[in-house]
Amino acid sequence: MSRPVEAADVQSFYSLADADLSRVVCQGTACFAARHARLEEWQQAEGQMPRIYCLGKCYAAPATAADLSRPQIEVKSRSAVVLERIAAGGAHTLDAYVRRGGLTGLKQAMATGPEATIAQIEGSELRGRGGAGFQTGVKWRAAAATAVPTKYVVANLDEGDPGAYIDRFIAEDDPFALVEGMAIAAYAVGGARGYLYVRCEYPGAIARLKQALTEARSGRLLGTRVLDTDFSFDVELIVGAGSYECGEETSLLNSIEGRRPVARVRPPYVAECGLWGLPTIVNNAETLACVPWILRHGADAYAKLGIPGSRGTKILSLNSLFRRPGLYEVEFGISLREIVEDLGGGLARGKLRGLMVGGPLAGIVPPHLLDTRLGFAEMRAIGASVGHGGVIAFNERTTIPDLVEHVFSFGAQESCGQCTPCRLGTRRIEEIFAGVLRSGAGAAEATEWQEVVTALKLASLCGLGTGLAEFAESILRHYSQELRACFA
Ligand SMILES: Cc1cc2nc3c(=O)[nH]c(=O)nc-3n(C[C@H](O)[C@H](O)[C@H](O)COP(=O)(O)O)c2cc1C
Ligand code: SF4
Repeated sequence: MSRPVEAADVQSFYSLADADLSRVVCQGTACFAARHARLEEWQQAEGQMPRIYCLGKCYAAPATAADLSRPQIEVKSRSAVVLERIAAGGAHTLDAYVRRGGLTGLKQAMATGPEATIAQIEGSELRGRGGAGFQTGVKWRAAAATAVPTKYVVANLDEGDPGAYIDRFIAEDDPFALVEGMAIAAYAVGGARGYLYVRCEYPGAIARLKQALTEARSGRLLGTRVLDTDFSFDVELIVGAGSYECGEETSLLNSIEGRRPVARVRPPYVAECGLWGLPTIVNNAETLACVPWILRHGADAYAKLGIPGSRGTKILSLNSLFRRPGLYEVEFGISLREIVEDLGGGLARGKLRGLMVGGPLAGIVPPHLLDTRLGFAEMRAIGASVGHGGVIAFNERTTIPDLVEHVFSFGAQESCGQCTPCRLGTRRIEEIFAGVLRSGAGAAEATEWQEVVTALKLASLCGLGTGLAEFAESILRHYSQELRACFA
C-alpha cells in the first residue's frame, strides 16, 4: 500500500498527509446543515486545522471520528443490487461472500468471454454512479478497442462529495463485490493491473480493503491464473492524503502516478490514454459493485429496474437532518418528495428550505420542485444532478448567504488552482458572502459575484469549477428574493 506523497511540490498539495485523524470533527456540508444540533462540536470543527470535509458519517452529523454508530440501511427497490449483503450485515470474508452469491458474475463473464461481458454491461444501460453518469459500457468498449498489452482498472473510492457515504459501506461491508467488479472490468477490457484509491478519512474501509485484497490473493480471485484460468490480475491499494480534487478522475490518475494531482486537459480521454498514457477504466465504487449483479442476473433484469435513461437502482445517503437518516437503495423514478417524506420521514427539526442532492457541485432543489423524479435527465432539467446520491436537507436555520459562504469556502479550499476563476473567484465569493453575513453588501458585490459565476462556468477545466457555477446559478434562480435582501 503506498501513499501518493513523495516530492515536496506533490506533498504540499495534500492537506492531511500524516495527520492524526483519530479525534477530528467533520466540517462537511451535512455537518454544516445539522450544526445547530451540537453547536459545540461544530465550533470545534470550524476552528480545527487542517479542515476535515467528510468522514462518511453524515447520518450522525455533526460527525466525529470517534462515532462508531451504523446508519439505518434499507432496500426499497424491487431487487437489492448493491445493498443485498450490506443490509444483511455484510460479507467480510471471501467464504461469506461466495456463500451469498459472490463470484458467480466473474465465472459467468469468463464462461462467455470479454465481448459478451461488455455487451451485458451495455445492455444493462448502467451509468456511472460517481457523479457524471457516463455510460459504463461505452467506456469499457473504448478501452477494449485499444490494442496495447497493458491496461488499467481504477476503482474510485475517494468519495469526497460531502453528504455521501455508500462507498465507505461497500468497502467496509462488501469489499469482495468491489474486487469482483474490478476483476470483471479487467477481464472485459484486457486489463492486467488495478488500483483501488480510497480516502484517508475512512480508516475502517482501509483496514477492511487491505484484509480483503490479501484474502482475494490467497483465494485465487486475484493474482496469476485467476480462478485457475489464463487471466491474471492484481490490485494495489492506494490511500489518499486529503484532497477532494483527487476524486476527479484525471487528478486521481496524476495522484496514483505520484504527480501533483491537478486535473488533465481532455481529450484525450482516460479510457484511451490514462495511467502512464495507457488505456484506463476509472469507475466509481458503487458502479463497480453493480457489475457482478448484472453478470449474475443478466442485463435485462437490471434494465427492468428504474426508468428510461436511468436504469437500475441508486443508493441514497440521507443525512442527519432527516428523521430517518441512512442508506436507501431505490429505483430511479422515485420522486424527491418520496425521498424526503417516505424514506427520510421528513425533517427532524425545522422546515425544509432546500435539498442538496449529489453534493455541492450541482444545483440545490427548492421545496416547490420536490415532485421531480430522480433520474439523470429529470434532475438536469431542473439544474440539479443525481451526483453520487448524497441527500442533504437544509432547514430555515441555514440562510442562503450562510450556505453560499460554506460551499464556496469548501470550493476555495479544494481548488487545484489551475484555472483563475476557480483559484481566485471561489475565494472572492466566499469573502463577499462573509461580508453579507457580517454587515451586508451593495450592488457592486451583487454584480461581482455573478460575474465570477459566469467566469467559473466558462473557464473551468474540470467539474469542480463548473459544478460550483451550477450551484450558484440555482441560488440565483430559486432564491432571488433572499439574495436581493443580501445586497440591499
Ligand atoms: C471535483 C470532482 C470530484 C470528484 N470526486 C469523485 C469521487 O470522490 N468519487 C467518484 O467516483 N467520482 C468522483 N468524481 C467523478 C470522476 O471524475 C469520474 O467521473 C468517476 O469516478 C467515473 O466513474 P463512474 O463512471 O463509475 O461514475 C469527481 C469529479 C469531480 C469534478
Ligand atoms: S476548475 Fe478548479 S479544480 Fe478544476 S482544474 Fe480548474 S482550478 Fe482545478
